[in-house]
Amino acid sequence: MAKKITFLGIETSCDETAAAVIRKNDQGTAEILSNIISSQFTEHKKFGGVVPELAARAHLDNIEYVINAALRESKIPLDEIDGVAATAGPGLIVCLTVGLNIGKSIAAFSNKPFVAVNHLEGHALSPGLEKNIKFPYLLLLISGGHTQFLIVKDVNEYQQLGTTIDDALGEAFDKTAKMLDLGYPGGPNIERFSKLGNKKFFKLPEPIINKAGCNLSFAGLKTAVLREAKKIGNDKQMKYNLAASFQNTINNILNKKTKIAIEMFKEKTGQKNVNLIVAGGVAANKTIRENLTKLSKEINFKVVYPDIKFCGDNAAMIAWAGIKRFEKRLLDKIIVNAKSRWSLDRDAPYMKGPGLKL
Ligand SMILES: Nc1ncnc2c1ncn2[C@@H]1O[C@H](COP(=O)(O)OP(=O)(O)OP(=O)(O)O)[C@@H](O)[C@H]1O
Ligand SMILES: [Mg+2]
Repeated sequence: MAKKITFLGIETSCDETAAAVIRKNDQGTAEILSNIISSQFTEHKKFGGVVPELAARAHLDNIEYVINAALRESKIPLDEIDGVAATAGPGLIVCLTVGLNIGKSIAAFSNKPFVAVNHLEGHALSPGLEKNIKFPYLLLLISGGHTQFLIVKDVNEYQQLGTTIDDALGEAFDKTAKMLDLGYPGGPNIERFSKLGNKKFFKLPEPIINKAGCNLSFAGLKTAVLREAKKIGNDKQMKYNLAASFQNTINNILNKKTKIAIEMFKEKTGQKNVNLIVAGGVAANKTIRENLTKLSKEINFKVVYPDIKFCGDNAAMIAWAGIKRFEKRLLDKIIVNAKSRWSLDRDAPYMKGPGLKL
């Protein structure tokens, strides 16, 4: 029988202070011994977005409590834990350093292996917490800071097929909600208010829909929403129509780009059967799930979504990525630093900024 591996995971890359204790079970999936998240929702609500200095301060205030709670709830004493994993990037440096430094200290003082986790690898491997999914699989990562199609070949082995050339999808949801004064956090509110609107009311642009492979763009869509939002003022029903039309446009874009990514995956892997994993905070959106599930039936692929609690930021996925890297002996030294940018595919071209050719 394979040895059970237990890890403490710590996550502070943005606005959630989180810690979890995860054990790999005999089926190769995870036993969630604890999964504690302290959200900074109220701190940032009045500003309509995350304020880095406030976020870092809130991490400092909460981190000790959150880690102690995770250890206590797991009923595993620290000396029975096999290693510590903490998010080292990408994200806000002032926030990352809080969890990273505490994780390094715990590992050093308890003489345990340490893994510096790429937050995006946490999202990429998160479905493994619940299901055994064979590599390679196609990943659609839709979060607050990233929007990418990747081939997940193995732990630590990623090939980027496409990415956003401007805003991330979560960012587009958040900005749209802000322009319509629908509250923070934007994504869940757009989803809620869309249900009250007519999704065909506004014809919004679908940027680079017929070019640039499965790369994506949302900036032009955001500008169009801003233009319409200025015209409709405070008319509630029109706001709901605009939210619904925005959500519908996103679904059309994801449909088209996913079809392209599926073909690219088949061509590059030589594999006919495709497992598409949709991960990251925006993967919590039910209409996106319904839309991609419908597409999966039409063009015959399998789609998997992590449980909603593993879509947004959490430390369970960080502990899990730590376990998967520990199994491959991908360990880090205590001197490892936080990184604000950190691409999963080290060879992927940088797709933002002036001079970009599509
Ligand atoms: N139901 C929903 N519909 C649409 N978007 C949503 C929903 N729930 C959450 N989101 C969006 O998900 C994003 C947060 O996701 P996540 O926590 O993974 O992002 P992040 O960690 O800030 O960014 P990254 O993972 O790229 O570093 C926010 O932009 C939020 O609005
Ligand atoms: Mg995230």
